Amino acid sequence: MSELRFAGDKAPLQEPERQYFFLERAAAHVEELARELGRRPTCCVTTFGCQMNARDSEKLAGILKRAGYEMTDREDADFVIFNTCTVRDNANQRVYGRLGVLNGYKRRNPRMRVALCGCMMQEQTVIDRIRESYRFVDLIFGTHNIYKFAELLTAMFEQEGTVVDIWKDTDRIVEDLPVERKYPFKSGINIMFGCNNFCSYCIVPYVRGRERSRRPQDILREIRQLADQGVVEVMLLGQNVNSYGKTLEQPMSFAGLLREVEQIPGIRRIRFMTSHPKDLSDELIQVMKESQKICRHLHLPLQSGSTRILQAMNRRYTKEQYLALAEKIRREIPDMALTTDIIVGFPGETQEDVGETLDVIRRVGFDNAFTFLYSKRTGTPAAVMENQVSKEQAQAGFDRVLQQVQDTAREQVRKYQGRTMEALVEEVNTGSPGLVTGRLSNNTLVHFPGDASLVGRIVEVSLEECRGFYYMGKMLT
Ligand code: SAH
Ligand code: SF4
Ligand code: F3S
Repeated sequence: MSELRFAGDKAPLQEPERQYFFLERAAAHVEELARELGRRPTCCVTTFGCQMNARDSEKLAGILKRAGYEMTDREDADFVIFNTCTVRDNANQRVYGRLGVLNGYKRRNPRMRVALCGCMMQEQTVIDRIRESYRFVDLIFGTHNIYKFAELLTAMFEQEGTVVDIWKDTDRIVEDLPVERKYPFKSGINIMFGCNNFCSYCIVPYVRGRERSRRPQDILREIRQLADQGVVEVMLLGQNVNSYGKTLEQPMSFAGLLREVEQIPGIRRIRFMTSHPKDLSDELIQVMKESQKICRHLHLPLQSGSTRILQAMNRRYTKEQYLALAEKIRREIPDMALTTDIIVGFPGETQEDVGETLDVIRRVGFDNAFTFLYSKRTGTPAAVMENQVSKEQAQAGFDRVLQQVQDTAREQVRKYQGRTMEALVEEVNTGSPGLVTGRLSNNTLVHFPGDASLVGRIVEVSLEECRGFYYMGKMLT
């Protein structure tokens, strides 16, 4: 479904040049709007979902800022874009709810324009519903053509009616487009896009397409530029970073990429997200162990502790394999914090299966875990499995898991009370302005007295008192 048409234009066919051409044209429209309004038009980018969406939103913001918009957090802005998520149904429901609010704003400000993009837009049922019930939306596009945002924005200004452009898939990666980062001192970096794993519950492979890796030289160049701009912490992003590089013309392992990132001066901390347990290599454990920069935090989604359920989920590891892997990591790198994702209520799951999950949580001793109620996603194999679990039963299992996770995490986090550790100061606390919030290498937060001048710095903090999942501390001078 492509409805973009530009009559007789001289736009270059090459990317990213084509987008810079349209960026100028979009800027002329924004300029005209500014004259009409008598002020600079405002724009708001609202992000739902994961870190990858957050990074995409920085790319959207990069284009909007260069087009001449002023950024705001207020959703009654002159241009509002929702970057959506569809991993669970409640993510979708939130988008519909917020769209209703936007409709109200648009009635009061007829020059307001509304756009939708991201994972939800890759679903035909969503597009149908928006076209029928949310006709005030001006622009809709998906995940594969987000690099064309400047061009799509121009189309929105120049064409009548809603502009809709959704692609089924892509094998393209367009480099060197503008980015407007949220934090000056830390940044996410895409190292790969899409996913080939097809876990049976998950919609991501359908809405994000096939796995493709960025070339190492492009990634390293971007990180060097970030370091020059003062970034000290990077987070390498992909749905399954452990399979990075397998499809490149010159294959490279994720561990190999990490070794290269380690060499970049100015970068002091390296994080990554997410690791699939089935692909976590010994080489990676070795690189993490030897590294001075890779943070002591590994997010290793378990999903379930029951081998039977794991098999139905198509996760391709057993309970025992997961436990062995966690043990190996703990043995090699004892101070590594382990966090995880757990789904409760997958089709066929019994309270016994939940018991297996509790067993793994206890034995691994996760530092934190995100627990989700299974959400049926149309088009995935699990959606048509016969033995769907009732809401009540799923909720009962969920409560048990949550309780166990909280007990275990509290114990784990407390381990470092009294120690001194490095923290990257991220912000001044909004509630109590005399305090700042820092993040430890193991991802735990610590609050301590300080001011805005510390933001972006890595400082030594003594962890005075553990309060459940975070610390109160004192900076050493
Ligand atoms: N690529 C990452 C996960 C991305 S989605 C990985 O494999 O680890 C983030 C989390 O959402 C998943 O780990 C899973 O726990 C959860 N999730 C995905 N699909 C879901 C569904 N249909 N219902 C409930 N939770 C789901
Ligand atoms: Fe979804 Fe599995 Fe891919 Fe993660 S690895 S994005 S859970 S299909
Ligand atoms: Fe959601 Fe898409 Fe991320 S579905 S979790 S925003 S990849």
